[in-house]
Amino acid sequence: MLNFSYRNPVKVVFGTGSIAGLGKEVPAGSRVLITYGGGSIRTTGTLDEVKAALSGQTVFEFGGIEPNPSFETMMRALDVVRAENIDFILAVGGGSVMDGSKFLAAAACHDGDAMDILRTRGRCVKQALPLGVVVTLAATGSETNNGGVLTHLATHAKTAFSSPLMFPRFAIMDPAKTLTLPVRQVSNGVVDAFVHVVEQYLTYPVNGKIQDRFAEGILLTLIEEGPKALSQPDDVDVRANLMWAASQALNGLIGAGVPQDWATHMLGHELTAAHGLDHAQTLAIVLPAMLEERREAKRDKLLQYAERVWGIGPTGDGADDDSRISAAIMKTRDFFERMQVPTRLSAYGIGAEAIDHLVSQLEAHGMVKLGERQAVTPDISRRVYEACLQ
Ligand code: NZQ
Ligand code: ZN
Repeated sequence: MLNFSYRNPVKVVFGTGSIAGLGKEVPAGSRVLITYGGGSIRTTGTLDEVKAALSGQTVFEFGGIEPNPSFETMMRALDVVRAENIDFILAVGGGSVMDGSKFLAAAACHDGDAMDILRTRGRCVKQALPLGVVVTLAATGSETNNGGVLTHLATHAKTAFSSPLMFPRFAIMDPAKTLTLPVRQVSNGVVDAFVHVVEQYLTYPVNGKIQDRFAEGILLTLIEEGPKALSQPDDVDVRANLMWAASQALNGLIGAGVPQDWATHMLGHELTAAHGLDHAQTLAIVLPAMLEERREAKRDKLLQYAERVWGIGPTGDGADDDSRISAAIMKTRDFFERMQVPTRLSAYGIGAEAIDHLVSQLEAHGMVKLGERQAVTPDISRRVYEACLQ
């Protein structure tokens, strides 16, 4: 029997030209801090569009939030929030800018050491500044969820956090804004969204029929539209479907009331922290190996996935269940490779000598009972990393 509560308070304003409506979403008289990344929003003209839409508000800027945003950078942003009495944060960018800004919104209202927010993974958050987001990269779903990930550079720790107070008030989602993305980021977005769905769907059956069918619909859409984003890079309709898919993949809906895995993400975060790989690159490497390692635990759902997502149903001509599972895992790997995201550590110049450190970091971060049944021990994680090598 399903048993859950579900809440998502984010107002979505979706479509080409939606930035023009930004002024209506930010309360009149706010002191707004626009937060952004390394500068793409300057060169693409998005920053000017945002500022034009906010004319009449008092606007400040904080740029330089890096991919895989750091605690250290966000502490500099906190100085600006305090110095300028900021009362509204507007994140304009991809997952990194949105995540960093969620932390900032909470840190601005936190009494004491902002590091507490990471230490408690967000549980200590009692209050946060209001936050709005303008999405320029469809991938993480951060725009419609209440989580984030921050890297503490001093300790190389990449820590996930969440709080009900970190939902953005609104998300402006203009798919045309993603047309300027480098191919690598388009590919990353498709892979990240795909793995978000898999981490909530490929576990064990609990008769969550809506969750399953929605998850399968998102996966099928990503499989259909992802390659088109590479072959038809100017097609804004393709980007629109990808943007909505990425948001739906991690806004809480498909995960409500069903078991969740997230082991692939945790192993991936260590790869990013140690070797600087893009988030989605780590997932493309780890997921096929993780599915292979856990094929017995995930057997029922893998067979469902094979049939409904990849069309590999029982054939009646002798093809057994094991080979259907193998074929589904292979199709998954092939899809990532088709999206131009390599799926083996060797493709990124990482060899077996890296694995001891990765496993010890998992242990140091308490990631010793991962997966939907907490069965992924450090020994199993080691085997998964080893299987990622070639
Ligand atoms: O920094 P700028 O100059 O803006 O360039 C960015 C950045 O270099 C560029 N970019 C973004 N929009 C662009 C653009 N370039 C041209 N045109 C545009 N329209 O893209 C690069 C990557 O941006 P980033 O925000 O780092 O990518 P992504 O959205 O993939 O975010 C990755 C981060 O999100 C975390 C990841 O761990 C990683 O730190 N995640 C957040 C999650 C969440 N909050 O729910 C869940 C995910 O699993 C993930 O862990
Ligand atoms: Zn992810």
